[in-house]
Amino acid sequence: MALRPRAKDAGSEDALAISLEGISRTYPGAESSALVDVSLKIEAGEFVSVVGPSGSGKSTLLNIMGLLDRASSGRIAIRGQVVESASERSLDRMRLHLIGFVFQSSNVLGDESVISNAAIGLRVQGVPMDARAAIALDALKFVGLEHKYGSQAKLLSGGERQRLAIARAIATQPRIILADEPTGNLDSNNSRRIIEYLRKLNSEGVTVIVITHDSEVANQADRRIQIRDGRITSDVGTNSHPKRPSQISAHAEPTLARKRQSWVSCFVRSLVDDWGDALNALSTRTLRTMLLILAFAIAIGGMTGALGISSTTSNAINNRLAIAAQERLAITVGDGPSVLRDDFDELRAGVDRITRVPHVVGASFVYSAVPADVRITRVGPSDPEPETPLSLHSSSKDYFKDFDIKLIPQNSRSAFDDPRAGPLAVVSMKAATALNIPFSQKTGPVAGASIWIEDRLVPVVGVFDPGTNFPEYSNSVFVDASIMRAVSRGDLKIQVRTEKGFSGAIAQVAPLAYSPSDPGKARVDVTADIQSIRQGVSNDLGSLIALLSLVLILLAIITAASSMYLTVQNRSAEIALRRAIGSSRWLICRSFILEGFIVGITAGSLGGVIGTITTLSVSWIQAWPPVLPSGLWLVGILLGTATGIVSAIYPAWVASRKDPAIAIRG
Ligand SMILES: Nc1ncnc2c1ncn2[C@@H]1O[C@H](COP(=O)(O)OP(=O)(O)OP(=O)(O)O)[C@@H](O)[C@H]1O
Ligand SMILES: [Mg+2]
Repeated sequence: MALRPRAKDAGSEDALAISLEGISRTYPGAESSALVDVSLKIEAGEFVSVVGPSGSGKSTLLNIMGLLDRASSGRIAIRGQVVESASERSLDRMRLHLIGFVFQSSNVLGDESVISNAAIGLRVQGVPMDARAAIALDALKFVGLEHKYGSQAKLLSGGERQRLAIARAIATQPRIILADEPTGNLDSNNSRRIIEYLRKLNSEGVTVIVITHDSEVANQADRRIQIRDGRITSDVGTNSHPKRPSQISAHAEPTLARKRQSWVSCFVRSLVDDWGDALNALSTRTLRTMLLILAFAIAIGGMTGALGISSTTSNAINNRLAIAAQERLAITVGDGPSVLRDDFDELRAGVDRITRVPHVVGASFVYSAVPADVRITRVGPSDPEPETPLSLHSSSKDYFKDFDIKLIPQNSRSAFDDPRAGPLAVVSMKAATALNIPFSQKTGPVAGASIWIEDRLVPVVGVFDPGTNFPEYSNSVFVDASIMRAVSRGDLKIQVRTEKGFSGAIAQVAPLAYSPSDPGKARVDVTADIQSIRQGVSNDLGSLIALLSLVLILLAIITAASSMYLTVQNRSAEIALRRAIGSSRWLICRSFILEGFIVGITAGSLGGVIGTITTLSVSWIQAWPPVLPSGLWLVGILLGTATGIVSAIYPAWVASRKDPAIAIRG
């Protein structure tokens, strides 16, 4: 087969392929050195075999020559470029463009197709997408695997995998092929094929260095280097075959890979590649991805839901308190019973004066008897009281109207003030039920209904519904003041309803209006600090929810990070392979962060929806108006994305720091 033309590269054509001078490699904590003072020159176009017992340092030597590992001391140059002084980035580039690896254990990405395995290096090299398939297929043809191009790599046999590894190595048009026991696990037939491919490559000018235990393989090489205990013990061969650079340069045409591309197309290509890689990594581990997204989505959903619920709740509380704070205040005037008995006219006159103050909607006295002091029964004065104790109150005639308490029939209260009518009562709907007084929502209590208050029979002329604004009246009876005078203990208040927002101002002037000559008689005891209570409740609720949200987000980050970390561990070999081929640390890091981003943005969107639904459900159950803070969904997406990225940072860093020389050993 004719491989695609080889490119000119950074190295000089006349240079030695590899030159080692006094290379030693001592691993930290090891008793002896894996390599000791190794000096070696390999010319371009040589076919070299490296033999030696297990543990003698062959792979170490190959890793150092392939720039996967750094020597502890000594000097190494690849095609004239000194390696010691080179930056990590330029080592990556040299690996990518000059060197092709075939590893001891045939490292292929099992979940990916044969052709995409063959094309990994091309992607890192930046070969345009449309050209990759053709080049990779060419490489597959070279090793006779073109018919398998669509299969998953994990379905290949051992021999086929090794051939795929060769195809991957040669697809990037390397100058040097480093093969570590390429026939180690193969039968003699397959071994022969592999050696044939390597020879063929060599005949095209590629420098081939192959480590082997197989003497047949070693005999195929032009030069044979023996290693023992980290030292070269023999180096024999004709050394006469190497292709001279003139033979190689016939192929030295620019390739598609190296054609100039605009930065926009480079950017778009790498973006598409990155997304492709990330989506591929996520989709090959579907269950893990789905569980991760679910865990994330629940956390984000819980958080956005908590935000929504806290807004809805505090809105509900606010509304209730605000109504009370803005429109109502209460005033205590002297000793209740005595005012009612002795100064009733003065009370009425004072209430009238307050009513006339601008911005006052209405004012009314409300006298509430101490519940233990009164017996209210339905049948007779000595019959048992209802199980729920009923409270007894009296008020000015416009109280129900002014404070929007629904009374049925509407005019039932006016009869109270008719001296001929005698004592009368209106009862709350709950009290009517407790007292077995039939009533209708339209016409009120049945005609002739009456109750006993102590030993007086009092006709019931109306029912009322205190609603949510006056829960204190849900079990109560209102009577006219004449009955109340008989009650010795009670609490007298003047309740004032103002226009919205005027309660504070009215509180200032109400005592003077009540008693111009002696304002000290009236004491405003409102609802005073309701505004600050309201603020407090909102703040408390807010910080509680914030704390809860923080815990949820931390949980999401930890879950995601640990899952990503495990993935990194599982993908060690893959990461090492990519690094060995020439992927930069940044590229590895970027692909993990992109995975975090994709998981985060998906889970964030889902979480936003979960949060919104939760808020709507809770407010529906509570019958509160739902408050969905604007951009709640957006908050979910942003939080999800940020969390996804944050949780991927550490695993991505770990992945990018993996030592390829160690990881490649598996
Ligand atoms: N990262 C490392 N840390 C510590 N010791 C190491 C490391 N890598 C290799 N070694 C040691 O260095 C020595 C040489 O190892 P190397 O893998 O080069 O041997 P080899 O000749 O390739 O053996 P084999 O034929 O079995 O593959 C061995 O004793 C090995 O245990
Ligand atoms: Mg080895």
